[in-house]
This record gives sequence, structure tokens and C-alpha cells, in this order.
Amino acid sequence: MYFVDNNLEKDIQNVIAHLKNQGFVYQNSEIYGGVVNTWDYGPLAVAMLNQIKSFWINEFIRKEKNFLIDSKIIMNRSVWKASGHLDNFSDYLIENKNNNKRYRADHILKDLYPEMEIEKYSLEQLEQIIKEKVKKYDGIETNWGNIRPFNLMFKTQMGAIDNAASETFLRPETAQGIFVNFKNLSRSSRAKLPFGIGQIGKSFRNEITPRDFIFRTREFEQMELEFFCEEKDSDYFYRYWIKKAKEFVLFLGLKENNIRLREHSKEELSHYSKGTLDIEYLFPFGWGELLGIANRGSFDLEQHMKFSNQSLEYLKEDGSKIIPFAIEPSIGLDRLLFALLIDAYEIEKLENDEERIILKLNKKIAPYELAILPLTKKQANEAKEIYNNLLMHTNLRVTYDESGSIGKRYRRQDAIGTPYCITVDFDSPINNTITIRNRDTMKQETISINEIENYFRNI
Ligand code: GAP
Repeated sequence: MYFVDNNLEKDIQNVIAHLKNQGFVYQNSEIYGGVVNTWDYGPLAVAMLNQIKSFWINEFIRKEKNFLIDSKIIMNRSVWKASGHLDNFSDYLIENKNNNKRYRADHILKDLYPEMEIEKYSLEQLEQIIKEKVKKYDGIETNWGNIRPFNLMFKTQMGAIDNAASETFLRPETAQGIFVNFKNLSRSSRAKLPFGIGQIGKSFRNEITPRDFIFRTREFEQMELEFFCEEKDSDYFYRYWIKKAKEFVLFLGLKENNIRLREHSKEELSHYSKGTLDIEYLFPFGWGELLGIANRGSFDLEQHMKFSNQSLEYLKEDGSKIIPFAIEPSIGLDRLLFALLIDAYEIEKLENDEERIILKLNKKIAPYELAILPLTKKQANEAKEIYNNLLMHTNLRVTYDESGSIGKRYRRQDAIGTPYCITVDFDSPINNTITIRNRDTMKQETISINEIENYFRNI
């Protein structure tokens, strides 16, 4: 089984087992033994992801009067030459010849020396340090080969003819689909600077060691915005989008104590970047990048101008032409989902020495906002009527459960993060009332059936 990831502590293994049991994640291709660190999302995670995406669209696109596009995963090969990914998008790989396994050089060193500033060393120096100091790794004596760069793009073939010309790639970021559409969009929507173009979509990286559950996977989803502005305004907008991104993750419910902002040093900056800041989350394995905000300058548009021989200049109202700067808040959905889930996971000791597992998810992103539970099967008809009514006449994310004792059903809803349970009991048909139970306080209150919709609109 690939389920056990030895990098993770036992506690997080319990969380993953919980998420798997409850239907948040499934092992990909499980009946065939799985694919290393590759996870499918079940209905509960999909419900959360849909909420996160719609809030991102609201906050980063709609309220900001930006534009949303959807470009393709497979693009013209030249895009990747121009963007620098073909030449520069590599990790450093080193092989232990004793077990024929390949590792990321930076991961080996970060595991052993968490404080080491790896970016400050050359490739040769890193190789030397590993060869001299790391005599045992991954439970085995080492016999290191040489470090070499390994391009992270997934190669594929376009069309029926299998030759070098048909070789192409799956996109490693959604951003390039935005840059190559810059001219189309500014012309067709007559957009005036500053304005942003965003998209949500899958990206692919052939990670040498996918690990840490859904933190580092080979297929993942990004929500990216390229905010185009004049160079003179770029610092202002860089800070603006940092603030906005931080507010966004807090708005979704992450605890402020568990995040920190970290600006990249000069040595660490990507080839295109004039400034980058990561918002990091305190994952079970330590601080890790949750999302990044970069000032990409005019690098990408200039590169695409050079390689396509097309002008991607912007015509200002005074008749002068400029190549805009791009500020890029880039959020990985999978990492955000992971952070939200572990942030919310709690085991609570109850008075009678029992324990309950509870996902204290913010109501905005919980898979369900409420569950309808008949006290016994005798109340099933009334309960189903309420359930169907809410499904048909509201947008509430609502579920229904009638199997097992009411106590067990409350626990089940606590375990998937449902903030409210509505119980239909003996009195319901007589008094036209139901009780609402709060997930966190476990307190109950009685309200009229007719008030349900209003009640949920106001909390
Ligand atoms: N367009 C800029 C860009 O792609 P990045 O820092 O390489 O920048 C942005 O990636 C975000 O995408 C990261 O902060 C992270 O949330 C997510 N991400 C990157 N690689 C990932 C991987 N292998 N698995 C899961 N998420 C990943």
C-alpha cells in the first residue's frame, strides 16, 4: 500500500485515515495498488473545493472587476521555450546507487539541516556536502551519484506522428495561458490598465518525490491571477495582493497563528521574479508554502513578444506604448484544502470520558451547512419533506441521515464538519418545530419549521 507516507507523523496519519474513511479523499487507482502519493477527491472534498473556488472568483475576480478565462492544459511548445520552463524549470536530483532511488538534493539537506539556506550554495557545493555528510539516508548506507537537473514538465505527444516536432508538455502552471492571451483579452474587452486576468485549472509537475499527502503531488489545481499594471504602480499592487491573499485565507477560516509571511531572498527568487512573498502554513511537517505572490515584472510578456514576433504592448491613452508589469497571486487549491482540513481537525474530550472527532470547518466551506436527522425512523417522512424542500427551494448545502442512533449521527456530522444538525422529533408534527444543534457548542435550540430558511440566512 502507498497509503503510509513515512515523512508524516503518526498524528497526521490519523487525520489522513479519517479523511479517507469519511469520503474526503480516496487513494488514486486503489484497486490496482494505487499510484504513489496520488489522491482522488471524494464528494466532501469536492464540495469544499467548489466553495473555495467560488469565493476566490468572488474576491479575486468579481469584486475587483477582473476577468476570468479558461485556457488549455496543452499549449504550443514554444510557450515553454519563451517562459523559460524548458531550460530552467528543474529540480536537482541525486541518486543513491545502493538502492537505485532518486532524491531531491534540497529535500535531503532540508530533512537533515532544517535551518540551512540551500539557495546560497552552488550545485557543486551541494553535491559535495551530501557526499561528505550524508552517509546514511532513507534507512540505507549511501553511495551518491552526481547531482543533475531534472526538468519537471510532463512530456506528451500531440497527434498521431511520434517525432520530435509532435513532442509537447502538460502545463506546469496556469499562468502562461494568461500571458499568451493578454492581447486577445485586452482587445476584445477593451480593458484599461490596471486590470487582472485569472484562471482556475489543473497544472502538472513531474515531482521527483511527491510527498506529504496532498502538499506535493504531480497533478494539482491552481487559482492564479495576473494583475497587469504600469511599472510605477507595481510595488503598490504587489503589497495590495499580498494583503488580499492573506485576508482570503483568514476569511476561509485558517487560524492566524498558523500562517506567516515570508519574503524570498535575492538568491531564492525565480528567474522571472522581481519580488516574491510566500504565505506559509504550519503543516504537520513544519512551515510550508501555501501560496505565493510574485512581481513578475514584464518578463513574461517580453519573452512572448520575442519568441512569437507579435507585439504584446499596451497602448496608453496618451498614445505611448508600454509592456505592463504582472503581479501574480498564485494559490494551490490542494495545499489550501490540506491546510483548512488539518487546521479544523480536533479531538475533543467530552464529560463522560468519551472523545469526539470534530472538523471545526468554517460554515462557508464545510461540505454541508446542515444535516437533517429524524430522531427515529418514525419521523422520517416529516424529515424528508423538510430536506427535499430545502434542496428544491434554497441553495443550502444540506444532507440527510436516518441510520443509527441520533448520538452516532451527530458524531458523524461532527466528523465531517457540518456546523448544524436539524433534528425532527416527536413534537415536530404537533408544534411545527425542529431543534437545531450547534456542532461546536453542542447546544440545541427549538425553532419553527417555517423559520429554517431565515435562520440560516442570518447566521
Ligand atoms: N505561476 C507561479 C507558480 O506556479 P509556484 O510557487 O511554483 O508558482 C504556486 O506554485 C502554488 O501552486 C504553490 O504556492 C502551491 O500552492 C501550488 N503548488 C505548486 N507545486 C505544487 C505541487 N507539486 N503540489 C501541490 N501544489 C503545488
